[in-house]
Amino acid sequence: MNFAKLRTRLLVLAAAFLVVQSTAVAVELSRAKSFALMNIPDGARPDITLKASTETEPYEFGILFNAPGVEETYYACTACHSEMIVAQQGLSRDDWVEMLDWMVEEQGMYEIEEPDYSLIVDYLSQHYGEDRPNFPATRTN
Ligand code: HEC
Repeated sequence: MNFAKLRTRLLVLAAAFLVVQSTAVAVELSRAKSFALMNIPDGARPDITLKASTETEPYEFGILFNAPGVEETYYACTACHSEMIVAQQGLSRDDWVEMLDWMVEEQGMYEIEEPDYSLIVDYLSQHYGEDRPNFPATRTN
């Protein structure tokens, strides 16, 4: 498929999405109006606060791959620097262990206790191994 076609297709998709979204909001608004007209006392009114129906939790761990250990890794490492500096490394398990030793001995990182330590080393060597499978970012959420 050539670029012009792809672009047209994307534009059509975007337009369709906007139509669906604005219809949903219009329906909510007209429901809200009709409840207001019924003059129901405040406490008895059903909760009709506007909410985007497609709402999802925002991802909190930057560019780090979403897998067990991501939360512990994110909080342990971003106290001092961006998670980017972590994600861009591709290291073997032994080298990650050495890297964490270096963080503690030279960079002032507190020693991470178990079970978090193993969780973090497992996470790093599995998802930021030598072939750097998740750099720049291939989050799955
Ligand atoms: C107490 C602060 C601190 C914490 C916590 C910390 N780091 Fe660091 N880290 C540093 C500093 C400072 C540097 C920059 C060192 C330099 O380049 O001289 C660094 C650099 C790095 C680098 C780049 C090394 C290089 O060769 O350029 C990596 C990778 C890294 N940290 C990984 C981690 C990981 C993984 C964690 C969490 C488990 C972590 N850091 C937590 C302070 C910290």
